[in-house]
Amino acid sequence: MAQYDVIIIGSGPGGYVCAIRCAQLGLKTAVAEGRDTLGGTCLNIGCIPSKALLHASHQLHEAEHNFAKMGLKGKTPSVDWKQMQSYKQDVIEQNTKGIEFLFKKNKIDWLKGWASIPAAGKVQVGDETHEAKHVIIASGSDVAPVPGADIEVDGKVVVDSEGALSLPKIPGSMVVVGGGVIGLELGSVYARLGAEVTVIEYLDAITPGQDAEVAKQFQKLLQKQGLKFITGAAVSKVDTKGGKAAVSYKLRKDESEHDLKADIVLVATGRKPHTEGLGLDALGVKLTGRGQIAVDDDYRTSVDGIYAIGDVIEGPMLAHKAEDEGMAIAEILAGQAGHVNYDVIPGVIYTHPEVASVGLTEEQLKEEGRPYKVGKFSFMGNGRAKANFAAEGFVKLLADKQTDRILGCHVIGPMAGDLIHEVCVAMEFGAAAEDLARTCHAHPTYSEAMREAALACGDGPIHA
Ligand code: NAI
Repeated sequence: MAQYDVIIIGSGPGGYVCAIRCAQLGLKTAVAEGRDTLGGTCLNIGCIPSKALLHASHQLHEAEHNFAKMGLKGKTPSVDWKQMQSYKQDVIEQNTKGIEFLFKKNKIDWLKGWASIPAAGKVQVGDETHEAKHVIIASGSDVAPVPGADIEVDGKVVVDSEGALSLPKIPGSMVVVGGGVIGLELGSVYARLGAEVTVIEYLDAITPGQDAEVAKQFQKLLQKQGLKFITGAAVSKVDTKGGKAAVSYKLRKDESEHDLKADIVLVATGRKPHTEGLGLDALGVKLTGRGQIAVDDDYRTSVDGIYAIGDVIEGPMLAHKAEDEGMAIAEILAGQAGHVNYDVIPGVIYTHPEVASVGLTEEQLKEEGRPYKVGKFSFMGNGRAKANFAAEGFVKLLADKQTDRILGCHVIGPMAGDLIHEVCVAMEFGAAAEDLARTCHAHPTYSEAMREAALACGDGPIHA
């Protein structure tokens, strides 16, 4: 029986980052992982493979829609789905093998198998029980069933995000249940590859919680790309008789019932914490009302020596949030002052254009009754975006009306997911919009739009 300082359950972005930091800080560390490869949902069946398909399908979109405009004429590429799948697989393998390499480099043991916690300080994997001073649960999340609906994910006609990454062929038509992040990213992929995609969303707008102006523009741009939207509609049933799907939904405004046929239905209505099989009940580990593991500010559960991070606890289910928590708990266990600033966690949707946000939305500021100012700048005024057919979005910077301190930023546009980080850094330093506005930005770059939005919080942007 091996004795560790720390055993982490789960090797997703929360678990593997935590393990590396623990090892770097001198703690003898092991990670239990039951999958054949490291990296969890993110690397195997989530963030990374979806980005490969988004990248490939975006290249096709560019070839079909923009190449000729730039004088690049000739045969438009056709889709070899098998090859695209093997490209995606190769990307997964490079990343999961990379984590294996990092484990070896940092002398982290991989306990292969699904783990449970028979008692505090013990982790059972297969027939073996291992001991550790600290046990960290980083077991992630699973697809949640659609609340109040009769929908069975059969992996053939009705798929979840995992199934949608590996469909045997590109469907002629697809209904996406849920206009959230997963539905729109994967819906975009199949729309670009030629499927007729209809998104059915329960609320009146897509991407709930997003800045309303951004969400509106986002839907408009996705519609331009061919996606159809039915909003304010609850999907209640999917019938798969005869190998095709009949999707029943009810419009909330008038309770009218409708049907829609499709080759494939993608269910993307949220995820739930993965806690099954860990033995938490018997241990007395307390859960929140929403089934998450309850933790204090230092990620301690209700049982001494057991901690939890990532999707399995409260907060946004984001890989980078889990990573930050993984580093923080490692530092806390090593006697340092680990901390996550939950006010500055960016969110990104990797469609084209990308959507990215950090901090408060205008709706939240209104609700708080906090005086604020808005600096908005359209990518139409950005030379680089115009040259690259990427001028359809905007940057919206929100700052405190009196102090000018940056409170939030919402971007829809090219490379938004990268651009947002300049505001994240600014917010971490408690910067004012004027600080961004006075920072020299290289020309011509998309990042000038960020500066222009900051200028718009003061005496005004130059190119508008
Ligand atoms: P989500 O919570 O983002 O969106 C689910 C949507 O489904 C909501 O808009 C909801 O109103 C709608 N819905 C629920 N029941 C419905 C019904 N019966 N009929 C019609 N619509 C219904 O969930 P999603 O997209 O499944 O993502 C799960 C988690 O994974 C999220 O926390 C997300 O942040 C995370 N994720 C993040 C990514 C990123 O950061 N790029 C990528 C993929 C996932």
